[in-house]
Amino acid sequence: MKLVGTIAFACVYLNVIVNAGPIPKYIHLCKRNDPEVGKCVRASIEVLRPHLKSGIPELGVPTLEPFHIPKIDIIRGQNSNNFRAGLSNIDVFGASDFQIKKLKVDVPERTISAVVEIPVLMLIADYDVDARILVVPVKGEGKVHANATAITGKAIGKYEIEERADGRYIKFTTLNVNLNVGDYNVKLENLFQGDPTLGQAANSILNDNKEELIKHAIPFLEEKVSEILLDTANNIVRNFKYDEVFPEK
Ligand SMILES: *[C@@H]1O[C@H](CO)[C@@H](O)[C@H](O)[C@H]1NC(C)=O
Repeated sequence: MKLVGTIAFACVYLNVIVNAGPIPKYIHLCKRNDPEVGKCVRASIEVLRPHLKSGIPELGVPTLEPFHIPKIDIIRGQNSNNFRAGLSNIDVFGASDFQIKKLKVDVPERTISAVVEIPVLMLIADYDVDARILVVPVKGEGKVHANATAITGKAIGKYEIEERADGRYIKFTTLNVNLNVGDYNVKLENLFQGDPTLGQAANSILNDNKEELIKHAIPFLEEKVSEILLDTANNIVRNFKYDEVFPEK
């Protein structure tokens, strides 16, 4: 009896999904001639937040908690010095606690701008480094743990309406992010094959020169974050017709 009930429920449920049309319920629609369209989009993002945490694979939305990045090359070693620095198996925790401070949608200009704050981000990854950081050699491979606090991002995205065989779709053409990081702490394990003195010295360099290192790292981080956001945004919006997801009225 239980099994029959379960199957019946599954059939009804599947039927509901199939008949629900292309826009899932948790996508709260906004109208493009709404004078407060920014407010509406912001409210939609709040409705979406719990779904963003776990991701929506069928819509190309990756899991945000943690956010996984397979690999980032920081220094690629194309210079004669052959220095390298890279991270792999990166998990970032805390991004889903983002707070939207401002959000503006300019429909005629096809521009979305936002100011977002994230109180704390925690990163765990595998690192591989052979480089100089502020003239000090740093070499090793192992786990890296890092925390950053008071992260502010200002993003401006421009989109186009793309004509496809079956209708019009949104496509983001550029997405530029400006970042600010309040503070951070980082720990590289197993530097210099586990030599505790050299390892501690290198970690101190990383944590005692924050202002300078943040200044150096920001342009790189901005480029990476912009790239990731542009990709993610397009993976999401390509699933929806413009006039369905962002109707005129
Ligand atoms: C990051 O924060 C967590 C939680 O507060 C803490 O356990 C960890 O030691 C911190 N890591 C670093 C590198 O500061």
